[in-house]
Amino acid sequence: MNEFPSALDHVHATLAELREQGVELRASAASLARLAATPSAAVPAPAPVVETRPLSRPPAAPAGAKAEQLAALRGPVLACTLCPHLVQSRTQVVFGVGNPEAEVMFVGEAPGEEEDLQGEPFVGKAGQLLTKIIVAMGFSREDVFIANVLKCRPDLPAGESANRMPKPAEMQTCLPYLRQQIDIIQPRALVALGATALEGLLGASEPMTKLRGRWHDFHGIPLMATYHPADLLQNQSLTDKRKVWEDLLLVLERLEKPISEKQRGFFLSKG
Ligand code: URA
Repeated sequence: MNEFPSALDHVHATLAELREQGVELRASAASLARLAATPSAAVPAPAPVVETRPLSRPPAAPAGAKAEQLAALRGPVLACTLCPHLVQSRTQVVFGVGNPEAEVMFVGEAPGEEEDLQGEPFVGKAGQLLTKIIVAMGFSREDVFIANVLKCRPDLPAGESANRMPKPAEMQTCLPYLRQQIDIIQPRALVALGATALEGLLGASEPMTKLRGRWHDFHGIPLMATYHPADLLQNQSLTDKRKVWEDLLLVLERLEKPISEKQRGFFLSKG
């Protein structure tokens, strides 16, 4: 007699559900034989999951499920201690903010001072510019999802206040959290803000002049690379503002959003 009949029934039901959603289930012959021998359930016994592989795109999550999955991920991320030096220096982990059902997700490099204090990405000066850009695209911050590759503020030598760039190893350690956020949200497009974010996401080290304005692929999700809003604040170049805007027009086109003549003309020099 099996000691865990209800747990087994639950496993059977979950496997049947996954199959209905189009997930291909694979199992070893031994596991199949074991499960077939198990007295259980009205549900016909599907194979136990050894490996699941989506047949094409993962099936759409049921309503509300994305918010629940993100909420479940938040706890472990906020309690992360994988980088002991950052645990020492951070005020808090900056998980990310926005709509779990977002069509577009913006990814920056790491929290700065303000973000570390407030626990929200892109709330400092660069963040305020990003918010304006998001609004110019026809969205609000609540429509999109905003996150960073590294979720803790990079630590600084004593007495220094300027931000430092995240190190590749720090980003690699943290990347699985962003992967999980992206896997849950399944945005139709990702926007990588700046060379460091792009390097963290794709391992790309070519200059941004070559990488921006082009579609890349992040595990099946189209990824647009553009300049970081902090770069625009620093150089105040109308040409670079226009380049960022052109990159984002490509995103709007990909999302099949209406684009007004006014939007098309932003940052075009009048001369
Ligand atoms: N710059 C980033 O890359 N991320 C933030 O959250 C803030 C500034």
